[in-house]
Amino acid sequence: MSKERTIPKHVAIIMDGNGRWAKQRGKERHEGHIAGAESVTAVIRAAGDAGVDYVTLYAFSTENWGRPEAEINAIMELFCYMVASRTEELVKEGVKVRIMGERSRFSPKVLSMIESIETTTAEGKKLTLIIAFNYSSRREMLLAAQEIARRAVAGEIKVEDIDEELFSNSLMTAGIPDPDLIIRTSGEYRLSNFLLWQASYAELYFPETLWPDFGKEEFQRALDIYAGRERRFGKVIQDNEEK
Ligand code: IPE
Ligand code: IPE
Ligand code: MG
Repeated sequence: MSKERTIPKHVAIIMDGNGRWAKQRGKERHEGHIAGAESVTAVIRAAGDAGVDYVTLYAFSTENWGRPEAEINAIMELFCYMVASRTEELVKEGVKVRIMGERSRFSPKVLSMIESIETTTAEGKKLTLIIAFNYSSRREMLLAAQEIARRAVAGEIKVEDIDEELFSNSLMTAGIPDPDLIIRTSGEYRLSNFLLWQASYAELYFPETLWPDFGKEEFQRALDIYAGRERRFGKVIQDNEEK
């Protein structure tokens, strides 16, 4: 009996291990981030080819502002460089880019790169790429709670109207389906403030590979592992039921 392979609609990735990758090679941490940028390109392509509709990449957490200034600056510069050098290719590949996170702390240059990539890629139809940049899930949920409270106080909604759908639609991920698969590289087994609400029924996969070593084959392996999982969503699967 042949069964069609289940492809996740949305894959979210915590790209971890750049610093360790650099250290293993006697390099500076920022060189690990530069190497990690190549994995980003490879994974976006592999995801598009596989028929994944949404990819979310955790690129910079709210907590990452606590890192040394030189490293933060290197990450911001790398972001600008990647936008400048890869936008054309993303447009060609049909990738629509959205940057998710609070923008108030970014420099004018980073802000203009964000606007540029979102505008230029807006018509992409093949894959939506969401880059979590100055993102934290708790902060996202607090902002949503504030927005909902404001609307309730203004009389736009009733307290009884606050349901899962309204809450989901008040998050930064409004309109994006929940991730089916969350991958965290580098052998760390935690979510580090990433998509906590949205991850409720995501399948989790924790490869040991450091992010700069994660490429097309590794991504395909993750899809294979996902295809072999049984998602139950709290229910009971009947013997004759398809997965
Ligand atoms: C992930 O790699 C990239 C960012 C958090 C920006 P790390 O920089 O966290 O790498 P490790 O965990 O120190 O190896
Ligand atoms: C999570 O990685 C954030 C990103 C990948 C952007 P960290 O390396 O910052 O997380 P912790 O500190 O190990 O939990
Ligand atoms: Mg890390």
